[in-house]
Amino acid sequence: MKPLLAACLLWLCLPFVAHAGGLRIDAGHGTQRWSGTQLLARADVREVSIPADVAYGRAMHYRAVPLRALLPGLAAGEHLQFVARDGFVAEMPAEALLNRQGAQAWLAVEDPARPWPALVGKAASAGPFYLVWTNPQAARIGPEQWPYQLAAIRVLAGADARFPAIVPQAGAVADVRHGFEVFKRTCFACHTMNGEGDARLGPDLNLPYNPTEYLRADLLRGFIRNPQSLHRWPEAKMHGFPTQDSLSDADLDAVLAYLRYMAKHKAAH
Ligand code: HEC
Repeated sequence: MKPLLAACLLWLCLPFVAHAGGLRIDAGHGTQRWSGTQLLARADVREVSIPADVAYGRAMHYRAVPLRALLPGLAAGEHLQFVARDGFVAEMPAEALLNRQGAQAWLAVEDPARPWPALVGKAASAGPFYLVWTNPQAARIGPEQWPYQLAAIRVLAGADARFPAIVPQAGAVADVRHGFEVFKRTCFACHTMNGEGDARLGPDLNLPYNPTEYLRADLLRGFIRNPQSLHRWPEAKMHGFPTQDSLSDADLDAVLAYLRYMAKHKAAH
């Protein structure tokens, strides 16, 4: 990316994310900032029970607002981005949130008077704002769709329109195109591709080298299921996809096909 363009993008993004406290919501008609206290005072706050909480790995109870209620006017076909304080960015179609039956999205709000426990192995909790789901299996909501320590939620164009250098060409085979969809839902929450993307947690997966160029195929596959099988270190931030629920074998094959394809379609750098 050209330095000037990069500087402009940083300038655009930083004020949005790097604001201490509060949650910024931009549903496409101006930004609104909510404090935890304001959210907890809403009439639609509920107690929700989450039997298999993703961030804590156990059952949890929260005070939460139905996310839909915070995004008035949200329409099918729109696209949302959830930006966490640590650089994790979840991309999601509006359809997932508009659901009235089945899986339902809630914004869990930490009450400073009753703080949540620290996350396993971390100093901080999942708060002050955390996206949780009731009935997640009904819509196949994956672990990357539970962003915690949220700083901002915004409605914006889908990733394909914003980041053309991650998109396979029209003639790419079905496996590669499917792998691209899996990539956007999973890896793209932490990694960039061809230098494009908003996540800042993991390294770029194509520049300068694509992992399919330097990692033996079986080791790469094993790494995605369990990163500690390749490098063992306690500070690793990639948790991996150990189960078929988190990433099926077919989806894993497809994501690898997409990575191999992208190795041959590098952005000029
Ligand atoms: C929660 C964030 C997160 C997600 C989701 C994620 N990664 Fe990672 N990944 C990281 C981080 C951070 C690193 C750097 C090492 C570390 O801290 O674990 C990394 C490292 C890697 C590496 C480098 C291995 C090496 O040593 O060269 C590969 C390859 C990789 N990830 C592939 C993937 C793929 C493919 C997906 C999607 C199926 C994915 N990652 C999803 C955060 C993530």
